[in-house]
Formats: sequence, structure tokens, C-alpha cells
Amino acid sequence: MTDALITLSIDARSISVEAGVTVAAAIAMAGSTVTRRSVSGAARAPLCGMGICQECRVTIDGRAHQLSCQTLCADGMHVVTASEGLA
Ligand code: FES
Repeated sequence: MTDALITLSIDARSISVEAGVTVAAAIAMAGSTVTRRSVSGAARAPLCGMGICQECRVTIDGRAHQLSCQTLCADGMHVVTASEGLA
């Protein structure tokens, strides 16, 4: 298997992952556990991993509410989570 590395940014932090890795996995690999915040500000994280719970929503390339568990990483992608604020 040829593992081409993909480089993306997560909250302005650069990370390289193998092709086929989801954004949710890349966020975890980057050491973050928070993807979004509830309306009361509680930290939320991916739960189901299959597009049902909606807890993994992040902003990807300026598009809010993208499901990170259903999105594959792409080179140059910019991901913003709510680890430090609302996304
Ligand atoms: S983790 Fe449940 S929809 Fe993404």
C-alpha cells in the first residue's frame, strides 16, 4: 500500500495523515477531543462515527456543520473545531 500523506490544518495546527483518514480521526490524532459545543456551551465529541448523532460537526474550508466522521481529509483542508470557542 502506498501511503500518500495528506497535510491539513486543524485549528491552525498542521497535521499529516494517510489518505483515507476521516477528519474526525485526524482531529483525534491531533490530540483534540472536542468538535463542537452544545447550545449551553458543553463540549461535544464524535459519538457514533456513522453520520447519525451529528456530534462531530466542524467547519471545513469555511463551511459550517460538516460531519467530520463522514468527510475524508484532503490536502490543504482547513478544519475549525469548537475546542476553544464556538465553531
Ligand atoms: S460521529 Fe456521529 S455523525 Fe459523526
